[in-house]
Amino acid sequence: MKIGVFDSGAGGLSVVKSLLSSNLFEEIIYYGDTARVPYGPKDKNTIIRYSLEALEFFNNFDIDLLITACNTVSAYALDEMNAQSAYPVVGVIEAGVLALENSALAKEDNILIMATRATINSSRYALALNKLGHHNTTSLQTGLFVPLVEEGIFKGKLLEATMQHYFSNIEVPKAIILGCTHFPLIGDEIKRYFNNTPLLIHSGEAIVEYLEARYALVQKEEEANLKIFASDNVAGLRKIADKWLA
Ligand code: DGL
Repeated sequence: MKIGVFDSGAGGLSVVKSLLSSNLFEEIIYYGDTARVPYGPKDKNTIIRYSLEALEFFNNFDIDLLITACNTVSAYALDEMNAQSAYPVVGVIEAGVLALENSALAKEDNILIMATRATINSSRYALALNKLGHHNTTSLQTGLFVPLVEEGIFKGKLLEATMQHYFSNIEVPKAIILGCTHFPLIGDEIKRYFNNTPLLIHSGEAIVEYLEARYALVQKEEEANLKIFASDNVAGLRKIADKWLA
């Protein structure tokens, strides 16, 4: 299977990491809209417009499936993208919710949903979880983590202060949905902040499980061949990929 991965910028490489280690795909075409990142603080209509424009990029490749690694895109633009593409476009939210549902979590356990402003405002995670009987959810906009991770700040004082800023009034959750591409890179630190107890839901791992089940994919001997493209500074994005995917 030849797949495309679309993200607003570099963050989707956290999903690519899981896709690569799954050995389920032959080729991965990654496109980051680095010229217009971040999508998280933008309006629904802008997010949909940018996402549809990204489809034009993928028209140059003969892909079988497109994954929107970006939670913000997954929250708003999936229907519109699917309506305009010849291949299926799959988001990460449904996969994340399913991964949580497949865990041993009880319905009354408290779940923290962390994501960008747009994703939280869409209520996609909270509504999907509520539908499954999980009503003890807290939705938190934590967009400041995005530039920190972009700057390569994965630990230290600045990250501590940001965690303190967002989490000081939050009770220790049983599970955390890392509802943004960037958060898995600081997942260990977030978990440590909450005494190492919460179960973390990671979009990359969730989407691999989801695709494997939905498309009956078979593991191969080799890793997929990865090609990286961007709307701006592709060299910079490839450098980040070398670091994050190492
Ligand atoms: N990729 C975005 C997400 O997963 C985070 C970065 C952005 O705001 O564009 O929601």
